[in-house]
Amino acid sequence: MADIWHDQTAGTWLLQTRSTGYAFGLADSGAALRHLHWGPGLPAAAPAALLAEAGGEPPRWERYRSSARERPDEYVPWGGLRYDEPSLKADYADGTRSTEWRFTAQRLSRPGASATLELDFTDPAYGLVTTLAYRVYDEFDVIERWVVLRHGGDQPIVIRQAHSANWWLPDRACWRLRYLHGGWGAETRLAQVTLGPGKLVLESRRGTTSHQFNPWFTLDPGGRATEEGGEVWAGALAWSGSWKLVYELTAAGHLHACGGCNDFDWSHRLMPGDRLVLPSFAALYTDAGFGAASREWHAWVRAHVIGRGDRTGLAEPRRRAADASGARGPGSSGRGPDDDGQRLRPVLYNSWEATSFAVSQGGQERLAERASRIGVERFVVDDGWFRGRDNDHAGLGDWTVDESKFPLGLAPLIKRVNDLGMSFGLWVEPEMVNRDSDLYRAHPDWVYHFAHRTRTEHRNQLVLNLARPDVADWVFGQIDRLLAENNIEFIKWDMNRPFSEPGWPAEAGRNPERIWVEHVRSLYAILDGLRAAHPGVEFESCSGGGGRADLGILGRVEQIWTSDNTDAWDRIAIQEGFTQVFPPQVMMAWVTDSPNWWTGRRLPLRFRFHVAMAGALGIGGDLSRWTEREMTEAAELVTAYKVIRPVVQQGRLYRLASVPADPYGAHEYLSDDGTQVVILAWWGPSSCGGGRPPLRLAALDPVARYADADNGQQYWGAELLHEGLTLPGVRQDDFGSALVRLARRS
Ligand code: GLA
Repeated sequence: MADIWHDQTAGTWLLQTRSTGYAFGLADSGAALRHLHWGPGLPAAAPAALLAEAGGEPPRWERYRSSARERPDEYVPWGGLRYDEPSLKADYADGTRSTEWRFTAQRLSRPGASATLELDFTDPAYGLVTTLAYRVYDEFDVIERWVVLRHGGDQPIVIRQAHSANWWLPDRACWRLRYLHGGWGAETRLAQVTLGPGKLVLESRRGTTSHQFNPWFTLDPGGRATEEGGEVWAGALAWSGSWKLVYELTAAGHLHACGGCNDFDWSHRLMPGDRLVLPSFAALYTDAGFGAASREWHAWVRAHVIGRGDRTGLAEPRRRAADASGARGPGSSGRGPDDDGQRLRPVLYNSWEATSFAVSQGGQERLAERASRIGVERFVVDDGWFRGRDNDHAGLGDWTVDESKFPLGLAPLIKRVNDLGMSFGLWVEPEMVNRDSDLYRAHPDWVYHFAHRTRTEHRNQLVLNLARPDVADWVFGQIDRLLAENNIEFIKWDMNRPFSEPGWPAEAGRNPERIWVEHVRSLYAILDGLRAAHPGVEFESCSGGGGRADLGILGRVEQIWTSDNTDAWDRIAIQEGFTQVFPPQVMMAWVTDSPNWWTGRRLPLRFRFHVAMAGALGIGGDLSRWTEREMTEAAELVTAYKVIRPVVQQGRLYRLASVPADPYGAHEYLSDDGTQVVILAWWGPSSCGGGRPPLRLAALDPVARYADADNGQQYWGAELLHEGLTLPGVRQDDFGSALVRLARRS
């Protein structure tokens, strides 16, 4: 069980997770909190000894010889001789711009299967109370941190930088950083760099999480960790707006990873009595390699993040103005409060690649009939269904059905879809507006803009200012109405452009720079409110593909659209990065047409399926053009997916091999009880007749027998672990793939 120990005499705290420890303690008579340890578990008495060893010396800001062991500040308010990246920077009304504080209170609580510690540090001169919050979870090694700023004084305070957490790593000779980078159609690909002295900043200034970088990292000393072993420290920020993470090897030789909401162009004016809750930043330590780190993320995200809404008080759910009773839409089957992460994802069909904007009742019904024939469980109408939306130049903002495409509204199509045994889903992009829309004509001031500056368009659209309560009410009302009037059970919530001219002229002089954070808090509040009012509706986060994939949005959605790039060969690398932190069940992956609409690559249907089956399976091809043979093969593969789905979506993922480093890429998914094994593998063209060796499996019982579910062949666990499994077809096919199911027999 996770626990938090406080040694009152020494002034130290120890956070104990399932198998790791994290410690800090008060110094300088409560004016400082010193970081002591993050790594393997510690005896309860150890933090006091670690603090004593530091000899009460203040942290050094340069390298110099000393017999005492340096202990840096856990969370760094800027001031004094501090030249490294600070955690907090505030300006006070009399011109003072640094913060000094004193420990004033602690609170320990045990909400659910977790323990939470809050430590208050108060600046006595100005009344700013900074709460450092820590949460540990039973059965997990994840530590979640966040910060709350409260104003107990009487003059405004301007917050210029406020990180969610500052993570100190133990002193080691050299560190490797791994992170996710990309672009549109190329999201979440792994990159790595050896950190040298100085600072590496990864960030989004785009208003959303971004395709370019994702707020997740791993750090391993000396670059020695592998998929299977070695010490790894990993972190992930739960924030869907502009963010900044700083990896800094300080002049004194210590490494810290710190960050939160991006401070660029942002400031937040705290008025007396105000509170600002900063997003949570989770992290973990393991000595069992990258694979163990990602399995830990997957299990924790399933248990504590997916669909859990707000865990820290960052966003109050927005409710209907007239009715806070939480009436449900007609499709509501009732979402249990605790089961979002445990429910299996249905096989989905989305018509975007098939029809683009040319949707119509007849066309969608024909696709729905074809989709139901191959075993699809949820049918989603994408862009193009609403008034004026014949291309991407018009219509965003006018969320009423286009009667030229759906003369009787959506109801007949939804009924047909339901009659075919599928649930119905709909695409929306509620944070956006086209100039050519009734909404923009009525409210040109509702978008972010600067006076006397161009309103820069991207995909012909502008961003609505969700920091405005009237705009947020309107957005909530539009989607609430759609859900109340129609039997919609799934919403794909898109966000297709980054911010520009992030202004709010009416608020000039009243801190319009707050929008960077307020937009996201407002978005969270809208989603939390919609989910509370329509508990039967599930959500997907999309942002021009995978531009909004993070632990913050995942508290409000069941799944994430991984990328607009549906080329299965490209998807392998994108999915490899995505699943470093996000579990396969949230990774929406469609099988689309060949040749691929974007890359032009031709790939076998089986290959496209096997890559998509590594996550939550969807179909996105133009089924009206699939041959009978393809339809039959697709139906067989969907059936096979439904069999392996519980293991893929909720089992433990072992990355056995990766292309291009290995001759094939292969995932093993193992059920929690260890009895069901699923192997998915894929490979590219062969070269020079080179063979592909058998695939060695992981985490099996060497003395157990495992049987192949398709041909009955039996193996010893030891054989599969050491000699390997010969994948069917691996010797012959170019762009081949395999699915193998094994069941433990003894
Ligand atoms: C974005 C999404 C796509 C699709 C289009 C519709 O690009 O990522 O999946 O929904 O918008 O305009």
